[in-house]
Amino acid sequence: MINVPVGTKDILPSERPAWDYLCNIIHETFKAYGFGEIRTPVFEATELFSRGVGDTTDVVEKQMYTFEDKGGRSLTLRPEGTAGVVRSYIENGMASLPQPVKIFYDMPIYRYEKKQKGRYREFTQCGVELFGSSSATADVEVIAMVNTIFARLGISDIQLVINSIGCSHCRPAYNAMLKDYFKSNEDKICETCKGRLDRNPLRILDCKNPDCHSLADNCPKITDHLCPECAEHFEQVKAGLDALGIKYVVDPFVVRGLDYYSKTVFEFISTGIGSQGAVCAGGRYDGLVEILGGPHTPAVGFAMGIERMLLHMESCGLLDKICAPKPKLYIAAMGQQAVLEAERIAYALRTKGVYVETDIMSRSFKAQFKYADKIGAEYTLALGDNEIATGKANLKRMADGQAEETDLSTIVDKF
Ligand code: HAM
Repeated sequence: MINVPVGTKDILPSERPAWDYLCNIIHETFKAYGFGEIRTPVFEATELFSRGVGDTTDVVEKQMYTFEDKGGRSLTLRPEGTAGVVRSYIENGMASLPQPVKIFYDMPIYRYEKKQKGRYREFTQCGVELFGSSSATADVEVIAMVNTIFARLGISDIQLVINSIGCSHCRPAYNAMLKDYFKSNEDKICETCKGRLDRNPLRILDCKNPDCHSLADNCPKITDHLCPECAEHFEQVKAGLDALGIKYVVDPFVVRGLDYYSKTVFEFISTGIGSQGAVCAGGRYDGLVEILGGPHTPAVGFAMGIERMLLHMESCGLLDKICAPKPKLYIAAMGQQAVLEAERIAYALRTKGVYVETDIMSRSFKAQFKYADKIGAEYTLALGDNEIATGKANLKRMADGQAEETDLSTIVDKF
């Protein structure tokens, strides 16, 4: 017996309706905000992620599925979606399209992480990337889009946490301040963070080690050290959210685990699904297009973790009423001619897009009706020698047993 790889799982046909329900609402919302879908390859050049996401991040240092192909190229299964979309934006000349360029995706992501509830090695992100606008209104629209999705799903108990992590003008000075602070407490931080001190002190703020965590409590806060432009931008983001009535909490410790962010960062946190509570996260990344070889292009986006969204929705009973589609019609048939007629009618109706079931198990008439009831067919049609001879049959509505004699030659038009 070969099992599914650790950290991955099958999405069974019985689970798929919940996925379709959620993803359809997400896609519809993205489209209502003017985003068009992109598909990028599952694997990309490894350098795209080391350069784009940052080689001091956990994602790049520890979590990538990297392999060499038969041509000796280093390739990596995408550990996030943004870098690939940015590569495509540059490679396909989207910088010369009218801006903003608004792109969405729905894609599997791969990270070699320790498996736990809500944390998998293969998972799905639905996300957006908005290119070309440096306006705080773009940040607000992108955040509002998540709220629109929640409102349409009936979700009201997820908290939005926002922060600004500054830009290439103010962050170096803040990083130096952080470095001094942690350097004077070097004996108290973990070995990984000692390595981060010189390379990327901001990463110490999301270290899960309790000693690093409690030391970080008293470190200088980025929000107190933003340059005037970043401070003003952050005020505009907050004012924009206030104007839409979107509630948020400012948390100066939200720094995100990926290096490309600048200015606004945000996370949507569920408290009902355990320690892996971030169901959606993102932010502004004004330098990434340039880092990956394109023209200077401000950008902002987010990605939503679909498995975590489903865990959250399940925890609040929002999936209870979602079930697999039920057949509109079950055609019970007995006898060679009746079976052929059942298949003819089913074929014609299915061609019209109507969900029809017939008996392919050679069951008795009684067992066929029992099965039709079990699978929740809305109507049944009974075909035997008599019906074939007269060309008429009983079409029965299962909910109330109401039956109607129907002409077999016109039954397809009834649905
Ligand atoms: P991220 O925070 O690394 O951001 O991931 C986004 C979301 O993916 C998380 O909030 C979470 O819901 C889900 N997620 C992350 N890791 C796992 C995992 N191991 N198992 C299950 N779900 C997971 C990004 O990936 C950025 N590219 C988002 C972004 C887009 N920023 C700007 N544009």
